Amino acid sequence: MSRLLQSWTADMNRLSGRTVTIGFGPAMFDRVRGLADRRPAALRPLPSFPGEAIDARGSHGDLCAQVCASTPAAAADGLRVLINSGREFAGLRWRQIGYRDQDGTADPRNPFGFRDGTANLDVTSTAARERHLWVSDGPEWMHGGTYLVTRRIRLLLDTWDRTALDAQESMIGRTRDTNRRTGSGHARLASGARMLRRSYTYDGGVDVNGLQDSGLIFISFQRDPAQFVAVQEKLADVDGLNAFSQHVASGVFACPPMDTLLRGGPTV
Ligand code: HEM
Repeated sequence: MSRLLQSWTADMNRLSGRTVTIGFGPAMFDRVRGLADRRPAALRPLPSFPGEAIDARGSHGDLCAQVCASTPAAAADGLRVLINSGREFAGLRWRQIGYRDQDGTADPRNPFGFRDGTANLDVTSTAARERHLWVSDGPEWMHGGTYLVTRRIRLLLDTWDRTALDAQESMIGRTRDTNRRTGSGHARLASGARMLRRSYTYDGGVDVNGLQDSGLIFISFQRDPAQFVAVQEKLADVDGLNAFSQHVASGVFACPPMDTLLRGGPTV
């Protein structure tokens, strides 16, 4: 573990212009000798939710590395650097490339054509970050870190694109062109939830039925994965978007701050 982290933190310093986030999954603490009592109580496998069809092969894992860059190619290249330097210590379970169009003027549009991330955690507020994003309890190695939840959510574009705009807007809870709240739908159901959402679009080509396979790599950061679970339990039950989407992969990871990674992460 410590040799892997040494090699990854050295890579992180070399990968200029790219941001790397490293996380540890719940199963790792049972697998790696000496770590069983280092697992934070908050780091548990996510429960199953109604309607999901999680493919274990593209989910979970002991470690995760998220590489962000200004282009998908630069991110993919950075990921390969980490994969290659980690090869001696860990096998590759899954990998996912995503993108988001950001021109700096407004939140990017997701594959449904609506802006995503508008009512997000206000990261400029210290109070909001401390209350909802950064961990300050549990084992010390996680202090100043955060929990990453990821869900691959397939969006059924072929059906969505044949649905009337006013029905789409009332299901999303925002107008498509002007991004105003409609007081209905998904946004209303999820309102009040405090987490930092940062999702990407993936493109998986075409499925065996000739339908587009595309959707969201939903990612949220929070000080406790329970924040995600509470909202998803509500959404999985009644969200109208469920008829147009399916959760197909899932993961939860504890991401300590960089200085803790440099000192050995959970082994500190
Ligand atoms: C089918 C997949 C999903 C789609 C297409 C989607 C799309 C959107 C859109 C377009 C908005 C309005 C813009 C914004 O404020 O960001 C929104 C809001 C939001 N979504 Fe989602 N979302 C999806 C899944 C999820 C999931 C899985 C969660 C968390 C469990 C979530 C949590 C939220 C929250 C907290 C808001 C802000 C609500 C508010 O206060 O207005 N979404 N989503």
